[in-house]
Amino acid sequence: MAILKIARMGHPVLLEQCAPVHDPGALEIRRLVADMFETMEDASGAGLAAPQVHMPLRLFVFRAMPDRSSGDDRDTPMPNTVMINPEVELLSEERVLRWEGCLSIPGLRAAVPRAPVIRYRGVDCDGNLSERVVSGFHAGVVQHEFDHLNGILYPMRMQDFTLFGFNEELMRVAQIRQQQAETEET
Ligand code: NI
Repeated sequence: MAILKIARMGHPVLLEQCAPVHDPGALEIRRLVADMFETMEDASGAGLAAPQVHMPLRLFVFRAMPDRSSGDDRDTPMPNTVMINPEVELLSEERVLRWEGCLSIPGLRAAVPRAPVIRYRGVDCDGNLSERVVSGFHAGVVQHEFDHLNGILYPMRMQDFTLFGFNEELMRVAQIRQQQAETEET
């Protein structure tokens, strides 16, 4: 196992249309997936797509931590999961703004329009097909990672660039708002 180098925005690999994985069970794919899990955990990320580690292949890993769930029944928590050759179907025309970060755009965060409910499917390294209908954080992470396989980074989805900033600044503003809210309540 190894921690892989993560490509940052500006590297051309992040703009590639990724190629299908022909043999999900191949030893080099299993190794890549194991290294991607390790890299995602090391970086405290919720997801990582193969092009982010300089491999333009259609696979990503992700996890949906229980403390990030919106509470909706379909916002199901997931342990470390790999999706190989995934497909994603947006189940409505509606879009909601979700705050997202990306390991390839470190330090920044933005509100990105995403479908609230999706269906997705894909296989793991043993060829097991899984298909799920999910919402909330889980749906947002999958849409974000799936976009990476088509060379799309979250700023390309944005409509309101006032909702884009550095984590540290946004957290400071949130703390001030929180303090103001507390002051107003008392
Ligand atoms: Ni990303």
